Amino acid sequence: MPDDSSVIVRPARAVGGVVRIPGDKSISHRYTMLSAIAEGTGRFHNFSAARDCQSTLDCVASLGCEWKRLNDGAIEVHGVGPRLNPPAKVLDCGNSGSTMRVLSGILAGQPFSSELCGDESLSRRPMARIIKPLSEMGAKISSSDGARPPLKIQGGPLKAIHYRPEVPSAQVKSCVLFAGLFAEGETVVEEPIRTRDHGEIALRAFGAEVERRGNASRIIGGQRLHAIEAHVPGDLSSAAFFLCAAALFPGSQITIPGILMNLTRARLLDILIQMGLKVSVAHLEEHQGELIGTIEARGAAWKGAVIAGADTAALIDEIPVLAAVAPYTDGGLEVRDAKELRVKESDRIAAVATNLRKMGAEVEERPDGMRIPSGQHLHGAELDSFGDHRIAMAFAVAALRAEGETTIHGADAAGVSYPSFFNDLRGVTSY
Ligand code: S3P
Repeated sequence: MPDDSSVIVRPARAVGGVVRIPGDKSISHRYTMLSAIAEGTGRFHNFSAARDCQSTLDCVASLGCEWKRLNDGAIEVHGVGPRLNPPAKVLDCGNSGSTMRVLSGILAGQPFSSELCGDESLSRRPMARIIKPLSEMGAKISSSDGARPPLKIQGGPLKAIHYRPEVPSAQVKSCVLFAGLFAEGETVVEEPIRTRDHGEIALRAFGAEVERRGNASRIIGGQRLHAIEAHVPGDLSSAAFFLCAAALFPGSQITIPGILMNLTRARLLDILIQMGLKVSVAHLEEHQGELIGTIEARGAAWKGAVIAGADTAALIDEIPVLAAVAPYTDGGLEVRDAKELRVKESDRIAAVATNLRKMGAEVEERPDGMRIPSGQHLHGAELDSFGDHRIAMAFAVAALRAEGETTIHGADAAGVSYPSFFNDLRGVTSY
């Protein structure tokens, strides 16, 4: 990350107004990948602006799938059908774990070999979680030491498996279900804890039958997909930064139209309501199986919370911002069962603790979580994004209530999921 990407955040008096959030990253990845192996041309409005989704578009282009951006901003993807073209070069997934893990499921079913690489952060992330099931299905996969990227995948005929992942992961679930499209028989993924279900919903929207019973999702191999036109709902994990900003200033009011309301993601709203944010949802609609609505939120008393077990899995992307603003709560925040946070784009437990301490906060860091006491006063500081988009954005929000200016180095990382974040935040902040 270049040094010149630092951003200065000044303390604010209030936040308020309307924010339009770019399309959901998880859904945009899946629409792109499924379009590549579908028949026909897919068209997606409000497609994610994330650099991560650009990585996915670049990868499918290397596999023979043409795409273009239309004048109105929509993305059009020309499907190749189930058999992609062998790539002439290494598939660069950039910073994107979803690109590498989910696309691997499709590559495992292709009759050619491919190689996937990533940036320094992605190269440190664990891949055993997809290597294991895909190898059981019949793909041959080699990796760096410790099952890290780069990955070499020799795809071929696959056999169906009944897979019980050890860690709750939507990326792993989508990877195995997408591979299941190419397998003989019925592939089942039985999750330890329910994770986001965008993979299943997208598969159905593209015409596949996917059955969900309890915590198990099932797909029968050999089904053909058909391109769709869809509107991608705004990313609720990106909206989380604005909701937390509103929560910091009692009386602040923020409106977020067209946002994803999928129940496997919306636990965030329950927790924010429990912490004192006044939230109402209007204009609920369904688009291609995904719920979408308008959030109205108003800051009020800001209480603490404990996040543990299934909640930790449901809030895995929002914990950095909830933790960054926790010192300002009346009650503090305790996060448990969150070992996974240590293997995200950065070690998010260490990154949050380091930055909060630089702002003068007390934090108890634990191997699988943290405890942040309540009622603390933070001061502005020189912080690092650790090359992690969610850390850069989380601390821009925390800095709004600090005394004095905060500099966030490596703030450009925000573009991994939300390139216009700092502009959009300034747009709703009064100083
Ligand atoms: C994602 C799943 C989650 C999440 C990531 C996106 C997805 O990761 O943290 O930002 O698109 O499926 P895990 O599958 O590792 O939990």
